[in-house]
Amino acid sequence: MKVLVATEKPFAKVAIDGIRSEVEAAGHQLALLEKYTEKAQLLDAVKDADALIIRSDKIDAEVLDAAKQLQIVVRAGAGYDNVDLAAATAYKVVVENTPGQNANAVAELVFGLLVFAVRNFYNGKSGTELLGKKLGILAFGNVGRNVARIAKGFGMDVYAFDAYCPKEAIEAAGVHAVDSQDALFETADIVSLHIPATAETKQSINYALVNKLPKGGILVNTARKEVINEPELLKLMAERTDLKYVADIKPDADAEFAQFEGRYFATPKKMGAQTTEANTNAGIAAAKQINAFFADGCTKFQVNK
Ligand code: 3PG
Repeated sequence: MKVLVATEKPFAKVAIDGIRSEVEAAGHQLALLEKYTEKAQLLDAVKDADALIIRSDKIDAEVLDAAKQLQIVVRAGAGYDNVDLAAATAYKVVVENTPGQNANAVAELVFGLLVFAVRNFYNGKSGTELLGKKLGILAFGNVGRNVARIAKGFGMDVYAFDAYCPKEAIEAAGVHAVDSQDALFETADIVSLHIPATAETKQSINYALVNKLPKGGILVNTARKEVINEPELLKLMAERTDLKYVADIKPDADAEFAQFEGRYFATPKKMGAQTTEANTNAGIAAAKQINAFFADGCTKFQVNK
């Protein structure tokens, strides 16, 4: 079988070495399409691929149609909003993700962004500390749990809300469970977003919700830009000069947010999962899942059931 790694944003070399040895040990062949710039390159490369390993690469009906032999796509990472699941199902292609494999990397970046924010983006002026501050985690999945673990090391008071995770499970992790998203924003000094981009969550982080943050509140977004209602957040930040917004990936309205100097920062390229460890964990997990699929039809991590 031919396994194609198609990544606009490439994996670290050591991760590719690991993927290659997994794939070849199972008797398959590895092909690479890294740092491609045009969709046409992807359309050409997928023609004879039986399996695909991707990151945030967009897999739509056109790509699936071009990939006549394709049986499985594994998104080496957590969020699969970049894959058209309905089209994949229609083309009888299994879609999987590799949950948890890059979670620590994303969680660590949350604190990189937070220290930067509370120290006034290193402008030399006196800032504040994270110790004793209330951190609200929105969605208690793999990343949220890692954020909670690290927050405790900083001596933060940790709260979480997750519409799909029982309160008992949150409390069992030593985190205060709150009853609603609204309650989380009312309680926390800092809210960290870990929700996926779905029809339900897109644009859900809006004026009314963020306005519940107390004075000096910080919103940190290492999830997806699509969950933010950008016009409403811009309006709120213009009105409330105490608020800060830090994000991993530029919002569409980056230029407008940039006017809030000293209160806004976004990484130039999404880099939460850009570590050697995360690339290796997620990449090798993807290769193993593909091997298991071809060996015995295993679809444990399928997301388009
Ligand atoms: C994920 O959903 O796993 C993260 O957002 C990482 O995405 P990336 O592989 O594009 O860096």
